Amino acid sequence: PSAYIALDKKDAVAPVRRRIFGSFVEHLGRGVYTGIYEPSHPSASDEGFRMDVVELVRELGSTTVRYPGGNFVSGFRWEDSVGPRETRPVRRDLSWHSLESNQIGLDEFARWLKLTDSELMLAVNVATRGILPALDLLEYANHPSGTALSDLRIANGTPDPHNVRMWCLGNEMDGPWQTGFMAADDYGKIAARTAAAMKAADKDLELVVCGSSGSGMPTFGDWERTVLEHCYEHVDYVSCHAYYQELDGDLASFLASPIDMAFFIDAVAATADHVGYKKRSSKKINISFDEWNVWYVKEHEESGAVNDEWRHAPRQLEDVYTVADAVVVGSLLMTLLKRSDRVAAASLAQLVNVIAPIMTEPGGPAWRQTTFYPFSITSRLASGEVIRPVIETSTYTTARHGEVPLVDAVATSDDDRAAVFLVNRHLTEAAQVTVDVRGLGSSVITEALTLADSDVYAKNTLADQHRVTPSANTTAKLADGLLTLELPPVSWTAVALG
Ligand code: AHR
Repeated sequence: PSAYIALDKKDAVAPVRRRIFGSFVEHLGRGVYTGIYEPSHPSASDEGFRMDVVELVRELGSTTVRYPGGNFVSGFRWEDSVGPRETRPVRRDLSWHSLESNQIGLDEFARWLKLTDSELMLAVNVATRGILPALDLLEYANHPSGTALSDLRIANGTPDPHNVRMWCLGNEMDGPWQTGFMAADDYGKIAARTAAAMKAADKDLELVVCGSSGSGMPTFGDWERTVLEHCYEHVDYVSCHAYYQELDGDLASFLASPIDMAFFIDAVAATADHVGYKKRSSKKINISFDEWNVWYVKEHEESGAVNDEWRHAPRQLEDVYTVADAVVVGSLLMTLLKRSDRVAAASLAQLVNVIAPIMTEPGGPAWRQTTFYPFSITSRLASGEVIRPVIETSTYTTARHGEVPLVDAVATSDDDRAAVFLVNRHLTEAAQVTVDVRGLGSSVITEALTLADSDVYAKNTLADQHRVTPSANTTAKLADGLLTLELPPVSWTAVALG
């Protein structure tokens, strides 16, 4: 196939929002224990954090980290995880059928975030607790001093408030798998009251109300409408969650997963606006796409891998990603960027070991999965404004998403630099691409990297940690404002321009 792409600063969508490069750490499997925290590891800091993982998180370029769940939060008592470690209780986590030692809690995690230079996004347990525990957590986390809970934080060794800005009002409350899940009407009322109370404490908080756990949920659309009718004036974002995987050997459809993500975003934005118009509100509700990734969830469900032995930090959801998975992750991130006018924040789910770009071995190395690369490169190169391209290319037919463009792209443009991100979905053929960058004022290529492999199912593993890495795209040329390059089949590419 071939593609002609026109880029012009006039087609700016929105600023590159750094929070789009967020991620997620849940108390699940080895996400925390032997993931970010392993006191006996050779690289451990005085506090027990794996510094080899900290280095990789910094390289990944993840910005805002959602914590502590996920489904985990719906059974969580935050008070268990602060104060002297020796008195913290061990609890059962019903969502993942494992034991939680509470050795890492808000104060430790906030210190870890400082090492990684990231922002905390905190979820409260709306499902099985209530307004007062949420307010207590807010006081503990954010109040400077002179109250019972802020002084308790200080006594626990954290003098400065955490000043958490973004808060999730529960997690996936539309999902029957959620401990304490609710009907939209019930959740909307509780979310409105919780949000109003939290904003009475601090009117500048940014609150995320739960949207749908996927565009395929039976309540999708009605859920958002009903929930927002209750809490439109009290919240700032509605969440979207989406996981994709190759099903029935249909790689062509899998590569087109961003079509669903784009539909999901457009539908939620339209529904939020519909509620806003009905309320004659001038306010816009934006989207926090706070769980997205490739996840082989069907295989997990079929294997029935429930941890019935109530183990601490068992190996759970440790998907090993392929080149094709990385191409999908890269193109999902491109879709989030393209929709930056409504998607204000996003979280790759998750960060370490659990459906994650970073893997660790207890006592051993930490390494990059294939999906690490498109995320880290995009986070590093994207700056300034997002430019939505005009693309002429041929299409292919998919079973799940209909006619889909073979080549997709998005660009960013700053004062003195620009970047173009591209994907070729053709299963067997390279794409010849011309990008008109005259409208960006670019005159030189500073970097061109492609992720591709003759084996689209190649992976990085403990035994072969560098099997898949991006390589220089030597076909990229820039002359007279026209960038030309070849994109291998099933590939993701980034070109940095000066
Ligand atoms: O990210 C894994 C799980 O996926 C989260 O706990 C939950 O919110 C979602 O179903």
